[in-house]
Amino acid sequence: MGLRLGDIAPDFVQESTQGTIRFHQWIGDAWAILFSHPKDFTPVCTTELGAAARLKPEFERRNAKILAVSVDPVADHLAWIGDIERTQQCKVDFPILGDADHRVSELYDMLHPGEDDSSTVRSVFFIDPAKKIRAIITYPKSVGRNFAEILRVLDALQLTDRHPVVTPVDWRPGEEVIIAPSLTDPELLERHFPQGWREALPYLRLVSPPEEST
Ligand code: BEZ
Repeated sequence: MGLRLGDIAPDFVQESTQGTIRFHQWIGDAWAILFSHPKDFTPVCTTELGAAARLKPEFERRNAKILAVSVDPVADHLAWIGDIERTQQCKVDFPILGDADHRVSELYDMLHPGEDDSSTVRSVFFIDPAKKIRAIITYPKSVGRNFAEILRVLDALQLTDRHPVVTPVDWRPGEEVIIAPSLTDPELLERHFPQGWREALPYLRLVSPPEEST
């Protein structure tokens, strides 16, 4: 059975471009974004890794570490990083796991049956500091991901962990959020939302974004 939301992210020990990664230990008390690339020296992946590298400070601001995986050996990754840095205006200073043995890509179900080669699809796993899988996004090889969307999902996960709210369609940080439908106790409502809320429907109660320190 594949991995599901709420599962503990499988632990592993694997070599990377920045040395041996003991996954759970490496995560520590941060969030982790583990994302797969079909293979090295491919055009879409080159642009994606460039975007991830440029956004690394934004992930760090959210206490999140990024870790790429590709089914090629570390030596290939190191050569490919030269191409990425030369063409994508970035410094790739996060690890890329070597996965020529497919240990990680099989553990995370990133290799899809029926594909004509051993390259992975484009998976993204959002893992919280308790090592729980909180979100999974999967794109086909032909479609490059949107790393701003990955940051947006991380923002929403962190906000909804801190406050009894859920985020509406196309939500962006700083915009109105929805009071969690499960929150009906009047005292708790008053405590969490003393400023009040706008009731569009009894089950659609909108509030200004809670104050955030990030
Ligand atoms: C790419 O990253 O460009 C790519 C990888 C595998 C198949 C097709 C495109």
